[in-house]
Amino acid sequence: MTRAAVPPRIIRTLKDLRRQIAKYRTAGETVALVPTMGALHEGHLTLVRTARRKAQRVVVSIFVNPTQFAPNEDLARYPRDEAGDVAKLAAVGADIVWAPVPEEMYRPGFATRIEVNGAAEGLEGAFRPHHFGGVATVCCKLFSQVTPDVAVFGEKDYQQLCVIRQMVRDLDLPLAIHGVPTVREKDGLALSSRNRYLTPEERAAAPALAAAIRKVAETVAGGGKQATAIKSAVKSLEAVGFGPIDYVAVADAETLGPWTAASGRPGRVLAAARLGSTRLIDNVPVPKAKA
Ligand code: PAF
Repeated sequence: MTRAAVPPRIIRTLKDLRRQIAKYRTAGETVALVPTMGALHEGHLTLVRTARRKAQRVVVSIFVNPTQFAPNEDLARYPRDEAGDVAKLAAVGADIVWAPVPEEMYRPGFATRIEVNGAAEGLEGAFRPHHFGGVATVCCKLFSQVTPDVAVFGEKDYQQLCVIRQMVRDLDLPLAIHGVPTVREKDGLALSSRNRYLTPEERAAAPALAAAIRKVAETVAGGGKQATAIKSAVKSLEAVGFGPIDYVAVADAETLGPWTAASGRPGRVLAAARLGSTRLIDNVPVPKAKA
């Protein structure tokens, strides 16, 4: 039997998790963590395959983290399919599924929250002010629980990746953060657990988001004006039914502050927009200017 066919062990208590991680460490094995909220798709499985190349053992956490959702957001309807997730993980070869119940993650009296600024400000931070504090707090806990050598995140949530890198740097957390490029459908739509909310008509319009930000990226890489490129992206999105458009922005790929081609630094184009009742986010790199 190949290792990939062995189902992962599902662990629900911190005590059992620590015992299993200690066994790996005693055997001299390295550990990678892939934090998820479940409803796994090919994008997540790509993260797990990457994690397998980075370490001898792979832990996938499945935890729909209530502290990163505002009361008006989709916590209650966020898709959950643990059995389906575990079957997919068996096929790609995760060793552990760390799936604590909310009370195991946030015990009675829990009252600590990491405050994140810098990369967390603006963009998603402006529209979901509570969000990155919740993400940083749960990721910090996951890092402390699993003690991974490396944690693997998707570039799909690009600002989240920047915030996590910043937190790890600022708090001297002893692990590496590895970002993995976004996996897309053939028509360009970035894979997301929330895509399943889209109606067939919305699904047909959804790839316009990736196309619009790609066009902005090409324009600004070639020296075109950011404001004009963004305006025409917004117009093209509205024309196919997106709205409101929360932002289309060009940012420094590391700090997420302002970017200009003259800086010589990598840039990123990021966007968030509603399509019907679903909020989609996406981002692409600004291509390097041709010498
Ligand atoms: O990207 C996600 O699925 C979540 O924000 C994460 C990193 C698992 C934290 O809950």
